Amino acid sequence: MSDLRVIHDPDQMRRASFAWRRAGETVGFVPTMGCLHEGHLSLVRLAGARSDHAVISIFVNPAQFGPQEDLARYPRDLEGDLAKAAEAGAELAYVPEAATVYPVGYQTRVSVPELAAPLCGASRPVHFGGVATVVTKLFNVVQPDVAVFGEKDYQQLQVVRRLVRDLELSVEIVGGATVREPDGVAMSSRNAYLSPEGRSQAVCLVGALRKAWQRFDAGERDVKVLVGAAREVISAQPAARIDYVEIRHADTLEPVDTIGDRAVMALAVFFGKTRLIDNTVLGGDRRP
Ligand code: PAJ
Repeated sequence: MSDLRVIHDPDQMRRASFAWRRAGETVGFVPTMGCLHEGHLSLVRLAGARSDHAVISIFVNPAQFGPQEDLARYPRDLEGDLAKAAEAGAELAYVPEAATVYPVGYQTRVSVPELAAPLCGASRPVHFGGVATVVTKLFNVVQPDVAVFGEKDYQQLQVVRRLVRDLELSVEIVGGATVREPDGVAMSSRNAYLSPEGRSQAVCLVGALRKAWQRFDAGERDVKVLVGAAREVISAQPAARIDYVEIRHADTLEPVDTIGDRAVMALAVFFGKTRLIDNTVLGGDRRP
């Protein structure tokens, strides 16, 4: 296993990044909340391939959890995470304390209001503001040349792309493909919360996306019809409760009635208290 340096202090992190960059070497960055699985690790490998030094951050960001959400029970396993991150080629792990990131008196927030409003933002009103804020802060400390985000969190990826453009940050944003379990279920730390019944029925999310692709391949472009076909697949599972199934513009996330070249189908489904998400760009290069 390669050596992994762990840094808790932001000034030390900044110095490490500065030393690399001063030597003409590039920094690739993968922000995470830990509890790493193969999805996160694929992003670490991608960051390593795209840069000279791969940095991962592990920080369960309180600002992106609503008052009723699962912050307290969010799974934590720092030792295991560090071993996995090293194995995947990370050279440095930035692991700040919440009191360092949000000290007493902290009040500045970054918001990307239009992209944050629909889809997951509708049921999680503080979420993307918290993500935009912490990602901006992490970029300022880690100073990456390239940052990799999973397409699994499609709306988050669009929010980050927008804030980087709007704030003129000098970091290239790269999207990594969603890594799936053998049965097609997107890897997520939240899968561990599912009951055996929920876990077996969770395959309906990717099933719905594949059904939409089938209809898309057959020439269907009507959003209502495609959404209806996807909803039918999910509704057939008794434990599944749909939060949303939508097709929107792939970049702006604005509503569309028919699909031109491409559009994103995004869905969120509850199994008990556990909410799973998945998505695909219909007409895009990657199929679930
Ligand atoms: P977290 O949920 O830990 O995810 C970290 C990164 O891993 C995100 O970019 C996410 O899209 C990606 N990811 C998760 N599951 C994946 C999968 N199955 N395949 C590929 N990539 C996957 O997303 C966050 O943390 C936070 O919001 C964060 C960006 C760190 C800000 O706090």
